Amino acid sequence: MKFANKVVFMAGAGSSAPGWSIGKATCVTLAQHGASIVAVDSNISAAQDAAEEAQKAGGKALAVQADVTDQASIERAVALATREFGGIDVYVANAGIGKIGGVAETQTSDLDRIYQVNVQSLLTASKLIIPHMIQRGGGAIVTISSVAGIRYIGYPHLAYSVTKAALIQFTRMIAQEYATLGIRANTVIPGLIDTPRIKKNVWSAFSTDGNEQEVNDKRNQQVPMQRMGTAWEVAKAVAFLASDDASYITGTELIVDGGLTGKY
Ligand SMILES: NC(=O)c1ccc[n+]([C@@H]2O[C@H](COP(=O)([O-])OP(=O)(O)OC[C@H]3O[C@@H](n4cnc5c(N)ncnc54)[C@H](O)[C@@H]3O)[C@@H](O)[C@H]2O)c1
Repeated sequence: MKFANKVVFMAGAGSSAPGWSIGKATCVTLAQHGASIVAVDSNISAAQDAAEEAQKAGGKALAVQADVTDQASIERAVALATREFGGIDVYVANAGIGKIGGVAETQTSDLDRIYQVNVQSLLTASKLIIPHMIQRGGGAIVTISSVAGIRYIGYPHLAYSVTKAALIQFTRMIAQEYATLGIRANTVIPGLIDTPRIKKNVWSAFSTDGNEQEVNDKRNQQVPMQRMGTAWEVAKAVAFLASDDASYITGTELIVDGGLTGKY
């Protein structure tokens, strides 16, 4: 029970379509180890689904509707977390969005919105959560970037890539600033992961007509291990970095990609 008496603030806890997203699998993985989960998502039914799965896994859980770009709603979520569970020990910044396309296809407004969700939200929530971690003598922050933030992986995903790159450096900065206060901050960098979101949002990079088999085959073949990763494989990496097993690890990244970045 590595997370017994630990409270986890999971931003982007749900799944954007039915099935196992990274956030939901992480809620369950941490709950299995005794964590109390604050499942935060802009989509309340997605938050409720994640909270229910965490409860089934044996943890306490609370579903909260909050948009990570809306300071007031994150303030309410943090207040609820501390009122119900007494504090926050772990913050996972998992909410992320993107838009397929390069310079020509990306509008300034796209970049603004994607930046707000993928990067600015980390500032908003960190300002609110870190004081609670300090009160408890420390904590762990895990941000979820992407291989697209460190490599060009074959298709233009401009706004997503630059914001996921920024997220990595942002996390390193937090690690330096709070190292003496017992707060660690690290990034998990997933590769091509088989979550419901890819069928919804990124299929156009792999198929002209959204053929699911074609999307899956191309993504599988691109990876040295010849398969996409699962949400559970990413969740285990998040759990490691969030746990005391990673007590001397801060300001760094853990790539979970079946060897993909080694190809580029
Ligand atoms: N699936 C992949 O192949 C892959 C690869 C690399 C990185 N990632 C990253 O992992 C994370 C999770 O990916 P996933 O595939 O599980 O995605 P997902 O879309 O299924 O899950 C993300 C959740 O975040 C929520 N969310 C989105 N915007 C929000 C906002 N403004 N406020 C609050 N909640 C919000 C969504 O409602 C959804 O429930 C994302 O940051 C994504 O960029 C995914």
